[in-house]
Amino acid sequence: KHSAASVKFRRYYRSGKMSLEEAKQFAAHRAVDEYVTKDCIFGVGSGSTVVYAVQRLAERVETENLKVTCVPTSFQAKQLIVKHNLTLGELDTNPMIDVTIDGADEVDANMTLIKGGGGCLLQEKIVASCSKKLIVIADYTKDSVKLGDRYKKGIPIEVVPMAYVPIQNKIASMYGGEVKLRKAIAKAGPVVTDNGNFILDWIFTNQDLDWDKVNNVIKMIPGVVETGLFVNMCEKAYFGQPEGNVIER
Ligand code: 5RP
Repeated sequence: KHSAASVKFRRYYRSGKMSLEEAKQFAAHRAVDEYVTKDCIFGVGSGSTVVYAVQRLAERVETENLKVTCVPTSFQAKQLIVKHNLTLGELDTNPMIDVTIDGADEVDANMTLIKGGGGCLLQEKIVASCSKKLIVIADYTKDSVKLGDRYKKGIPIEVVPMAYVPIQNKIASMYGGEVKLRKAIAKAGPVVTDNGNFILDWIFTNQDLDWDKVNNVIKMIPGVVETGLFVNMCEKAYFGQPEGNVIER
């Protein structure tokens, strides 16, 4: 007879979630080991994969006595930095970041990213734009050819609350698809970002758009604060595989 814990473990293992978590961890460790080589200013991304990167960073800071200043991309990232007793920095005093390690919802063949599944895209893009290098860490499910091949939740767009309806209409009339107001649970109120804004998720249907252009056009709509399209920003991506190896792109 199996214990309740072992039954739970077997169920978890069979669900495939364990190998997914391990894949995230492999990618995160690889990126931290490769890019944190000396004392540096480090941008801390957001999401579940970044948690493994911060754990690894904390281990290395402790054992190698590194002096790393961590600039967060969200409230969650800030809490993670504090929890691991790492040095917390801000852009005011560290406007030039050596390397930022962040997750992504999807990475296409041109290294264009969809980010913001966790709603942190604005600060993530600001910190990435102040970084000499943006390195993405992800599990194998994020590695795709065209945006939309694998990530089905659309492109997140952070908007000023009063403008969300006209922005929804404008995006849908320009490019088609569906533009949904993000809610934590159906019929509940909208998700509010760290910056007090709303998130729209644009479920696009045309996968062959010029994403650089789309990003610029959407950003020009009054009330749009930022999009989750990261074009020409990412230097390298590490995709952890279920077997334990890591593919770099
Ligand atoms: C949050 C993000 C995340 O980096 C992205 O959603 C990936 O998250 P995870 O590592 O949990 O898959 O952009 O805004």
